[in-house]
Amino acid sequence: MRALVRETSLEPGDLVYPLFFNASLREPKPISTMPGIFQLPVSMAAAQAKEIVAKGVGGALLFGLPEKKDARGSSALDPDGPVPRAVAEMKSAAPDLLVITDVCVDEYTDHGHCGILRKRRGGEMEVDNDATLEVLAKMAVVHAKAGADVVAPSDMMDGRVAALRKALDLDGYESTALLSYAVKYASCFYGPFREAADCAPQFGDRAGYQMDPANGREALREAALDEAEGADMLMVKPALAYLDVIREVRKATTLPLGAYNVSGEYAMVHAAAAAKMIDLQRAIMEVLTSIRRAGADVILTYHALRAAEWLGA
Ligand code: PBG
Repeated sequence: MRALVRETSLEPGDLVYPLFFNASLREPKPISTMPGIFQLPVSMAAAQAKEIVAKGVGGALLFGLPEKKDARGSSALDPDGPVPRAVAEMKSAAPDLLVITDVCVDEYTDHGHCGILRKRRGGEMEVDNDATLEVLAKMAVVHAKAGADVVAPSDMMDGRVAALRKALDLDGYESTALLSYAVKYASCFYGPFREAADCAPQFGDRAGYQMDPANGREALREAALDEAEGADMLMVKPALAYLDVIREVRKATTLPLGAYNVSGEYAMVHAAAAAKMIDLQRAIMEVLTSIRRAGADVILTYHALRAAEWLGA
């Protein structure tokens, strides 16, 4: 009877698995704060794609670590960079796998910020919103050319959804979809990711472009802007400290909605389980179910492969 009246479902197909491809690696390299998660060599992309499909997981989200970084994140536009290469390998090994790419320059800039910098009048450096849009749009086209089904801008520059849509359409990629990290908070829960993607800002923080955790109404404004600019799907990030925001955005849009169960949320569950404070499997299932209950259609989560096994794809 409980099964019959259960209000929230959770299936492997609701989950998206994030992957880190590092151009300099020949072997997987463990990420110390995220048990079971590795930076991977591009040579492992095909095998990963097959495993994700075999487990019934709904898609893959790709991040790249280039060989070289500079102030403008030039390697983000390299068609032979780790992401375009991994996309191509994954799509040819598993054509039915939905491949999503993260579009942001923070993994490619030597300063670790999500955009191109300029000097403010006072002498301080700040991110130049509009100069960054050009790079992001080119990066999205490079990913689409490589075969990405969906591009996901995570930079939080204003106007980037429209800029990406326009660039993709001009180059003939009108069927490449756009998943916008529309509501992204300046959060401490990205801590482990910054090791995973080697992108900790070298000065300052990201509060100039990411959202204040105290703001709920602003989330609705950000979501509405990205919808108007042509996003096909929206995302709220992080997930757990923002379940109320997921619920509110769910009510405000008819677009498909994702939530990113981020690196720090993953690390906390594993740390608590390793300390025998909680049961790992029950904790993961409860976390994922709560995100679905709050209103997310899709959950981007490092738990995806393990959860899919438990759910018995
Ligand atoms: C930016 C980006 C970040 C994450 C995804 N895309 C880091 C940030 O904004 O600092 C975080 C994901 C996670 O913590 O799991 N490219």
